[in-house]
Amino acid sequence: MAWSTDDIPDQSDRRFVVTGANSGIGRAATRELARAGGTVVMACRSIDRGEAACADIREEIPAASLRVEPLDLANLDSIRDFAARLDEQIDVLVNNAGVMAIPRDETDDGFEMQLGVNHLGHFALTGLLLDQIRDRVVTVSSRAHENGAIDFDDPHSRASYDRWGAYGQSKLANLLFAYELDRRSDLVSLACHPGFAATNLQGGAVSSLPMRLVMGVVNRTLAQSAAAGALPTLYAATDRDAEGGQYIGPGGFGQMRGAPEPQESTDRSYEETLAKRLWTFSEDETGVAYPF
Ligand SMILES: NC(=O)c1ccc[n+]([C@@H]2O[C@H](COP(=O)([O-])OP(=O)(O)OC[C@H]3O[C@@H](n4cnc5c(N)ncnc54)[C@H](OP(=O)(O)O)[C@@H]3O)[C@@H](O)[C@H]2O)c1
Repeated sequence: MAWSTDDIPDQSDRRFVVTGANSGIGRAATRELARAGGTVVMACRSIDRGEAACADIREEIPAASLRVEPLDLANLDSIRDFAARLDEQIDVLVNNAGVMAIPRDETDDGFEMQLGVNHLGHFALTGLLLDQIRDRVVTVSSRAHENGAIDFDDPHSRASYDRWGAYGQSKLANLLFAYELDRRSDLVSLACHPGFAATNLQGGAVSSLPMRLVMGVVNRTLAQSAAAGALPTLYAATDRDAEGGQYIGPGGFGQMRGAPEPQESTDRSYEETLAKRLWTFSEDETGVAYPF
């Protein structure tokens, strides 16, 4: 039988942090974790958007145990503040927030925005919360990792910028980090991807009105819902069969849709030498040093 939200075990005694919980995959995952009885700290860069999403979920699930906390992954001080405020133990950290194929921009710390938010921000956040995480870290990647490479000569694309290249780099970094964390720590660390889901993500990738209209049609016809796209995340975060080092994605055509199941990522994503080099680079860039 295909895995569905009916298979989520009772989460009443479990606490989650979900980044980017106000929109798309993060919001859909938050709703189902709350429905299963879990407590979710919704880590959002906009408190207003976070509170609005929280109110929507509570309308459907009045008993939902939710709290919105500000977190801007494009600002290391914000990440440190978030970690300092979070004084409770958590079972699962879901590194979900992301931006895709945006025009070149930089975080407040001077990182290329996609590498900064999608990878370096989550690397720093995970490192700062390490002592408080009891069970697992789930990192949301993408099939875009398949075209990704880590450009150590110009990681922040200062010499030249390709918006899809930078997205692919950040999503490959997500996988290298997830697998290396699993190898280094006692935590379970695994990755997932949502296939192709209609969310706000595609909005950043297209700037012209005609392209937005085309993307709207593509989203309505080809993409699955955000709720379906959240299933790999939910499986990775809650299923007892989900193991460290796995990569969970939809099992249907082209991994674009369908029920979640373990998938293979590219050979490059499993390269340990590359993962170690990225780890050192990430520690140097963020100033967050892991104890292992
Ligand atoms: N949708 C797909 O088809 C697809 C495919 C492959 C992978 N993914 C991955 O799925 C994840 C979720 O994306 P989505 O599709 O749900 O997109 P989405 O609807 O745009 O949600 C992205 C979330 O990330 C948040 N975010 C962006 N920048 C942030 C920052 N600086 N600090 C904190 N939060 C920030 C957004 O906040 P705001 O609402 O404030 O902007 C939003 O909550 C991403 O990692 C993405 O790469 C999605």
